[in-house]
Amino acid sequence: MTKLSVNINKIATLRNARGGNVPNVVKVALDCETFGAQGITVHPRPDERHIRRADVYELRPLLHTEFNIEGYPAPDFIDLVTKVKPHQVTLVPDSPDQITSNAGWDTKTHASFLAEVLDAFKHAGIRTSVFVAADTEMVEYAARAGADRVELYTEPYASLYPQNPETAIAPFLEAATAARNLGLGLNAGHDLNLQNLNYLYRHIPWIDEVSIGHALVSDALYLGLERTVHAYLDCLR
Ligand code: PXP
Repeated sequence: MTKLSVNINKIATLRNARGGNVPNVVKVALDCETFGAQGITVHPRPDERHIRRADVYELRPLLHTEFNIEGYPAPDFIDLVTKVKPHQVTLVPDSPDQITSNAGWDTKTHASFLAEVLDAFKHAGIRTSVFVAADTEMVEYAARAGADRVELYTEPYASLYPQNPETAIAPFLEAATAARNLGLGLNAGHDLNLQNLNYLYRHIPWIDEVSIGHALVSDALYLGLERTVHAYLDCLR
């Protein structure tokens, strides 16, 4: 079964636009769970421009499903995650001012840094995932560094999918097969939507979890949150 983890960063962006507590990030997360989402993802950034550290602490005891915290493993982030102890931490190579993650790790160049950080999270009892491009070598070096899972950066798949789904999926199938052969768990995320998700799922049904934010929150403007979560879950069947 492929789990749907809803990334709620955009809900926090909307809330922060007015300084109050509308929409309520915690309520949205709990409602996503009620509507069937099997996980919640947040990306607390150093400038707190969407999810704040306080949100992370507030969410932890209230969530009933899997909590995934993603981010660049700077000392502050490592400190937050090891205190909060989510089910999973996803390491992304973002610089602090980046609008959104736009590349996976070079797991070969950063092998020793990643190994050290992954070890710290492992000691804290937190499952680890490393965000990588659909590149077999990057998957192999993530495994060597000690990752439990890789998350495939699906933006290139999403961009090419409308013109040529078969070409778009090919490198992802290869990288996903490499991950499976190495005994790694497999996540995927970025720019997944109601058009391209089912094709990904049908070709790589062993994906453990997809993490989806931007398109899902945008669809909810038209469909409502409950129908939207159901529509995404339907793509994973
Ligand atoms: N996975 C990672 C590592 C991300 O950084 C993001 C964006 O925050 C996502 C998944 C979700 O991407 P999207 O918002 O395009 O669904």
